[in-house]
Amino acid sequence: MVKTVYVASLVSSIVVNLLFMIINIYVGGEWSLSWSSKAAAEAEAVADIACSGHGRAYLDGLVGDENEPVCECNTCYTGPNCSHFIPHCTADADSGDPLFLEPFWMQHSTSSALVVSGWHRMSYNFHDNTLISQHLESLIRKLHAFVGNAVTQDRYIVFGAGSTQVLSAAAYALSLANSSSSHSPTRVVASVPYYALYKQQVEYFNSEKFKYEGDAHTWRNRSESDASTNVIEFVTSPNNPDGLLNKAVLHGPNVKTIYDRAYYWPHFTPIPAPADEDLMVFTLSKLTGHAGSRFGWARMKLCLTKWYYTCKSIP
Ligand SMILES: Cc1ncc(COP(=O)(O)O)c(C=O)c1O
Repeated sequence: MVKTVYVASLVSSIVVNLLFMIINIYVGGEWSLSWSSKAAAEAEAVADIACSGHGRAYLDGLVGDENEPVCECNTCYTGPNCSHFIPHCTADADSGDPLFLEPFWMQHSTSSALVVSGWHRMSYNFHDNTLISQHLESLIRKLHAFVGNAVTQDRYIVFGAGSTQVLSAAAYALSLANSSSSHSPTRVVASVPYYALYKQQVEYFNSEKFKYEGDAHTWRNRSESDASTNVIEFVTSPNNPDGLLNKAVLHGPNVKTIYDRAYYWPHFTPIPAPADEDLMVFTLSKLTGHAGSRFGWARMKLCLTKWYYTCKSIP
């Protein structure tokens, strides 16, 4: 009897050890993570911190006394886990912070997670000696083709740190393109009501090349008769703040138009046809809601001189 028990435990021990060996070889050879596992564990742990649905903790955010990540509360909420509503708080319904898309990404946590090594793409250049990722560019073309909101075939694409930067760079580039024919600063206009940033940026950069001149409608008759002054019109379509599918008010050889297409996506507006204006600007902020990642792009029929270094040849 003792012998039978001994043999049985020996056999089961061998089987268990064999199993462990096989699992170890399989997992060790193919599936075990090394440098990313600590980072992944930290990312999941911080994402698990409960902030009552009114805030979030981040690894690169606020920390407590022990240097541990703590909740950063949304507007009108406070407390260690953001559970206290601040009475009489005024919510800002005017700025377009895209937090409403956060639940979507949480529902797609596995497919949307990213792992980035500390030595990821350290060079200025990509393999083809350009400054723009071919892969990202072709994904953008694919995305527009899939959504049907912009023509990209035979068109150039350049990137920027958010569309804010691209809009400003476009105004600068177009005012340079304009400058040989005129000595007065390029007039920058937009039709009322317009997104305040256009005016703020032009005034902030305080360039002698361009000047903010208010409502485009004011200049409608004047700009057609005054062909010596160059004009840049910002057209926001759909418009911020009223959502209208605006069209350019000013036309003529001295007028250049920058179409801000930030909201030209089907979750904001019906898309009647792919847009194909000369210069259109898009942003990740309103497409996926990743405003903090600061990524925007321009889609152009002609590569503006200022952007020669970044325009790739059209695929
Ligand atoms: C019409 C419009 N264009 C551009 C932007 C700025 O976007 P980004 O985050 O890409 O700078 C906004 C942001 O609210 C906007 O409403």
